[in-house]
Amino acid sequence: MRSVIVVGAGAMGRTWLDTIARRSDLHVSAVVDVVEGAARSAVEERGWDAPVFSTADGALSAVHADMLLNVTIPEAHLAVSSAALRAGVPVLSEKPVTPTVAEALQLADLSESTGVLLVTSQSRRFSPGISTFRDALQARGGAGQLDTRFFQNPRFGGFRDRMDHPLLVDMAIHSFDQARFLLDEDPESVYCEEFAPSWSWFDGGAAAEAIFRFPSGARFSYSGSWCADGLVTSWNGDWRGSAPDGTVTWDGEAEVVAQGRDDDPAAVPLGPAPDGEGLDAALAEFVAALDGGPVPSGEVHLNVWSLAMVEAAVQSADRGERIVLADVFDAARRDASAR
Ligand SMILES: NC(=O)c1ccc[n+]([C@@H]2O[C@H](COP(=O)([O-])OP(=O)(O)OC[C@H]3O[C@@H](n4cnc5c(N)ncnc54)[C@H](O)[C@@H]3O)[C@@H](O)[C@H]2O)c1
Repeated sequence: MRSVIVVGAGAMGRTWLDTIARRSDLHVSAVVDVVEGAARSAVEERGWDAPVFSTADGALSAVHADMLLNVTIPEAHLAVSSAALRAGVPVLSEKPVTPTVAEALQLADLSESTGVLLVTSQSRRFSPGISTFRDALQARGGAGQLDTRFFQNPRFGGFRDRMDHPLLVDMAIHSFDQARFLLDEDPESVYCEEFAPSWSWFDGGAAAEAIFRFPSGARFSYSGSWCADGLVTSWNGDWRGSAPDGTVTWDGEAEVVAQGRDDDPAAVPLGPAPDGEGLDAALAEFVAALDGGPVPSGEVHLNVWSLAMVEAAVQSADRGERIVLADVFDAARRDASAR
């Protein structure tokens, strides 16, 4: 039985507590939140007797932990994950691993120097739909042109309404990470325009159009909006991949359809999901790695590419020019070294 400290008892932290509770090989040894009442109510609502703390350091020095789940707000990710890595406790963190690439590189260095695993949970990589879509594209020679349309209309009413880049910074990382998963490579450059449709209820740019170029020559285009009333897509977006031997579409949920030059369009049956979907699957992959299994796909050195896609897209939108990812990493590396 492994002991887990959960840090952050907000909406997502509570979802993670229930995800951990579904596993018989894990138990929550402490819940932490700067608002101690939040941690206490999360524990009490579940009828548990786990101790609560107001700092990650306090919990790490008081209770045993085999892993720590970092479900705090992004601005706290660096401090909380660093504390765990320094204490020798592997970390599974909510996305984004940190708000900036420079901070993510700091954490990657710390993970390397301590030899302790740090993984970002990118739960939208794990569903029968996306795996089936990816397999169908690969069977047709791999996508050379991939696009997604993400159109939703949430009325959050909180901090997202005030953010400078709500869609790109808070949401697009999911689609960008999915594109890396689907193409199985990391991008070279991006050109992005971000804007605020006249009817938007967000302060910042809640719509964006971005085109990424990949080393193979593949292009990934992202068309997204968070202020699109009517005909919304799924929260995974609506995807199309064009490959040498045909085209495959995915509605972001359970419908994958493929067609070659000489076939009729045909639904592709979804594959199995032995480790579940979403958070359950991300957790299963992390626990398997602790048991000596493969390096998780969200390991910090790999995952920083998804964050770099966001940072590069924001830079491109701000400057009105194409941004090369290598330049983003060079600047972030200089920034990380200077800290
Ligand atoms: N994967 C997804 O689909 C998904 C969905 C929603 C949120 N998230 C991510 O999950 C994380 C949490 O989001 P949320 O919606 O639960 O936010 P939230 O604001 O509801 O909860 C965050 C909690 O962290 C606590 N906190 C802040 N700083 C802390 C610190 N230093 N130590 C301990 N606790 C601290 C806050 O008091 C709050 O209770 C974010 O990184 C967010 O991006 C992911």
